[in-house]
Amino acid sequence: MTGTVASPARLSKQLDDGLAAVERAMLDVTNSRVEVLRAASQHILSAGGKRIRPRLLLLTYLALGGDDVARVARPAAAIELMHTASVVHDDINDHGILRRGRPSVNAIWGRTFALLTGDFLFTAVYELMAPYQQLNVDLARAATALVEGETLQASAVKNNTFTREVYMDIIALKTAALFRAAAVIGAKMTGVGENEANELGEFGFNLGLAFQITDDILDIVADEESLGKTSGIDVHQGRGVAVALHAGNGNGSTQVIDPVEAIKRKMMEGDSIEKARAQAALLVDSAVARLSALPDSPAKQALADLALVVIQRET
Ligand code: IPE
Ligand code: IPE
Ligand code: MG
Ligand code: MG
Repeated sequence: MTGTVASPARLSKQLDDGLAAVERAMLDVTNSRVEVLRAASQHILSAGGKRIRPRLLLLTYLALGGDDVARVARPAAAIELMHTASVVHDDINDHGILRRGRPSVNAIWGRTFALLTGDFLFTAVYELMAPYQQLNVDLARAATALVEGETLQASAVKNNTFTREVYMDIIALKTAALFRAAAVIGAKMTGVGENEANELGEFGFNLGLAFQITDDILDIVADEESLGKTSGIDVHQGRGVAVALHAGNGNGSTQVIDPVEAIKRKMMEGDSIEKARAQAALLVDSAVARLSALPDSPAKQALADLALVVIQRET
């Protein structure tokens, strides 16, 4: 910290300021003169969401001694826009009609405009990241991973090759890579070297794995209203943690998938959910272990708290 005493109150103000700047940057860059793009972007952005990725970036930056949140608002906004683009496209693929407590973009505007809105949100990332050279490369790699993960998932469902190993590969690519990029970018914005940035990247990556496993559990056990998005999708489409835990261990085949309600009931009765929760908890432990080299600070504590919230959340 440069000259100012770190306190929980100061951290909370820095986070609020940083996240407010992220919101402004996202709205600014998506203010298209084309009405549908502007309206659909505002619809999905103003619905909120947990903003966990920009929070992770900001906290990593602050935990490594960064002190000017305005400096990291644009990369943090870029990460959240990339994530938002991915859920807009994901709802087309998954036939999701509810997102962030509102009708999804495809439910209101149809598939074509949802596809274009997702494209538009992705392209806005170029503008935000233009000044950042290597950080732009870090984010581009996460974007590639995300698309690879979603594609691998669709292929695994299509070819009935959804095993535990494939599941872990998919969630590493589609979700954890972006969490890693958020932490790496937050770290590098402070000027630390590769090793320290990668250590924080591993924190983000393990957190991302735990986050997606928890999301997949919630897809089974939580109701749509509290989740604010269409649920039961993963089991219905032959993927997600439930299907992975039912699948053979690496033998390249899966059991025949029951109808969605039957599988849900089965999962709730068995110990699969507990196993998945235990795995997520282990991943959070290995994430938190990566923080040990950091000096104690409110931001470091907030990162550890964030890791716990990821597995304890109910929505
Ligand atoms: C949803 O992400 C997609 C996943 C990777 C599970 P979030 O749960 O972060 O979605 P929002 O941004 O809070 O709506
Ligand atoms: C998240 O997977 C994939 C993305 C990278 C968008 P899900 O399909 O589980 O996401 P939700 O549950 O629809 O948010
Ligand atoms: Mg989905
Ligand atoms: Mg999900």
